[in-house]
Amino acid sequence: MAFDISNATATEVLDSRGRPTLSVVVTLGDGTTAEAGVPSGASTGTREAVELRDGDPARYGGGGVLGAAHNVDGELNDLLAGRPWADLAEVDAAMCALDGTPNKARLGANAILGVSMAVARALAAADGVPLFEWLPPVASTRRLPVPCFNVLNGGAHAPNPLDFQEFMVCPLGAPTMREAVRAGAEVYQALRRRLVADGHDTGLGDEGGFAPNLAEPEDVLRLIVAAIGDAGYTPGVDGVAIALDPAASEFFVDGGYRVAGRLHSSSEMVARYAAMVDEFPIWSIEDGLGEQDPVGWKRLTGELGARVQLVGDDNFCTNPDIIAAAIGDGIANAALIKVNQIGTVTETLEAMRICHDAGYGQMVSHRSGETPDTFIADLAVATGCGQIKSGAPARGERVAKYNRLIRIAAERPGLRYGLAE
Ligand code: PGA
Ligand code: ZN
Repeated sequence: MAFDISNATATEVLDSRGRPTLSVVVTLGDGTTAEAGVPSGASTGTREAVELRDGDPARYGGGGVLGAAHNVDGELNDLLAGRPWADLAEVDAAMCALDGTPNKARLGANAILGVSMAVARALAAADGVPLFEWLPPVASTRRLPVPCFNVLNGGAHAPNPLDFQEFMVCPLGAPTMREAVRAGAEVYQALRRRLVADGHDTGLGDEGGFAPNLAEPEDVLRLIVAAIGDAGYTPGVDGVAIALDPAASEFFVDGGYRVAGRLHSSSEMVARYAAMVDEFPIWSIEDGLGEQDPVGWKRLTGELGARVQLVGDDNFCTNPDIIAAAIGDGIANAALIKVNQIGTVTETLEAMRICHDAGYGQMVSHRSGETPDTFIADLAVATGCGQIKSGAPARGERVAKYNRLIRIAAERPGLRYGLAE
């Protein structure tokens, strides 16, 4: 059904790290209004769509987004207002065409994404259906995703000596969404008790996980396995398993991988992961190698792809073309899905469809810079991808997504919980 947009406007607001981002409000011709908060990353892939920042050192150290807001209020509003639109895909394609660059560098992926998300939300509201039922399915059924709780932070998200960025606990064996969130929160609290008992401080990283003064990933894994047990769960795929996002592009130096001060060749890094998978209940590794190392990625996939999920983030950038090429090359077996890496809802869904059709997993993801916006919770349910990561089960902007999933589960008792089949 065709629709009109009467107005799109953006405001510079703060994200969860105290850096500027956009809040975009779209009003449809029938008066329906919806808002969207734009996420922002720290460990970004080089081929991500461009987040437009002002570069004025006098404001927010150059990080202001007044120019991107201006592009929403000006060029994008002029494009959108006062003509009929067939659907969201047409709006997204028109915004990309107006931008005119391959990576949204002129108008800004932050500007374009904010409009895309707000239009989707407004159209769902106008239709009187929740966003998770308005967004098109990708898998054969909608489902409640396994939440991957980032309980311990390092890398670009914390000032500690830990090179690996994210250690996640994933309640694969939970019977329901509510029990999954409970398991994540209970393990998080058990981990806090362990850290205090061992004399570590319990300060948090950007995604709400603890950021203790630890350097070796195996030491962290030992602590987490113990915390899973303390909380009364079974470590492993029948209970609470572990997922890693080392974000290895960030510690790729001098042609190798520097972990706790020691340089590893790409093959040595793969061997270290293989040993970790042998010793610990790890079921998923994201960005185990850097985007600079496609040859290593192929080796990693060959050696571990049958045993664990290998998720491409920095190397894929939620980009349908890049993902399609990687599938052809046999790189990874899953993709991280971040709406702002590609910059429209339509292209995000296309990336997920390509993964689904190739049998690649999809993990919908927040960014380290977030707002209370819960779009990604609805996206994960709608597409039926079965996986989401939204940081720790703590801090408002992280739990907003998990709480949204609990509410969806309560509203739709027929929705199944768990990984896609
Ligand atoms: P980012 O980190 O949002 O800082 O890029 C998240 C990730 O690497 O998955
Ligand atoms: Zn990542």
